[in-house]
Amino acid sequence: MDIRILGSAAGGGFPQWNCNATYSRAVRTGSPGFLTRTQSSLAASANGKDWVLFNASPDIREQIAATPELQPRPDGPLRDSPIRAVVLTNADVDHIAGLLSLRERQRFTLYATARVLKTLAENSIFQVLNPELVPRRELPLGGITHLEGPDGPLGLSIETFAVPGKVALFLEDASKDGFGTSEGDTVGLRITQSDGQSANLFYIPGCAAIDATLRARLTANGTLLFDGTVFTDTEMPDACVGEKTGARMGHLAISGETGTLAQLQDLPLKRKIFVHINNTNPILDPSSAASKAVRDAGWEVGYDGMELTL
Ligand code: MLT
Ligand code: MN
Repeated sequence: MDIRILGSAAGGGFPQWNCNATYSRAVRTGSPGFLTRTQSSLAASANGKDWVLFNASPDIREQIAATPELQPRPDGPLRDSPIRAVVLTNADVDHIAGLLSLRERQRFTLYATARVLKTLAENSIFQVLNPELVPRRELPLGGITHLEGPDGPLGLSIETFAVPGKVALFLEDASKDGFGTSEGDTVGLRITQSDGQSANLFYIPGCAAIDATLRARLTANGTLLFDGTVFTDTEMPDACVGEKTGARMGHLAISGETGTLAQLQDLPLKRKIFVHINNTNPILDPSSAASKAVRDAGWEVGYDGMELTL
């Protein structure tokens, strides 16, 4: 299985268009070690020919331009795309807005949970994806789905599981518990080749807490791509760029007693990689103490264009 990290940043990207804080300025001015990052997305393929997108970011056009594998084949038909399916892990803007750029009468299959499909159905702008060309298929929680494109199986299978999280920002209802969050608003995925010839890739770009159930899922020799939004829970207020904590946004901090490094330290995973990194996170600076702490704990910081083979 071939994997490409298309976008390693959280919502807003890096630099974020209106951000003038330390890290966004550093990357904008080309400070050594800082990499520009587009918004959260991944691509995977079992055969190197047919590709599945995991989340469709607002930066999808730029991501396709940077990834020849996702472009029409030079010898292909006049309208063509190797992107045969798109799988969504939640309804956040950074994960669904790219669907609007995938119009133009191209066939592919769209997969999401019932909750996320409901959001798409309630927002009529997504009708730009004609259901006759882009069928929407439900991902059952706890179930295995053998992904199919318009012409049949793609050789990839996913297990979909609910993780603690929060309903998309634009759907928050302040009058309800958890802002109206329900199971299926945020999911993680275990991605494998359908023929069983690959190790497990766990893709969890948004997660508010790690419990025993989640830890038990992360089986030996798997590769984990995990929510790296914030290093400390209060880093946005600390940087004076916003009031929200990581917890309020539905993202578990990397550091701290209950943070990701502490909670996942003993697991026998092959690789652990942070993705969905917010523009306030000090791991964006490879010379920071936070970057060192992450590396010392056996984690990698994902980057746009990162290639994995499983
Ligand atoms: C998030 O991951 O918390 C969201 O993408 C935030 C947003 O919608 O900008
Ligand atoms: Mn996000």
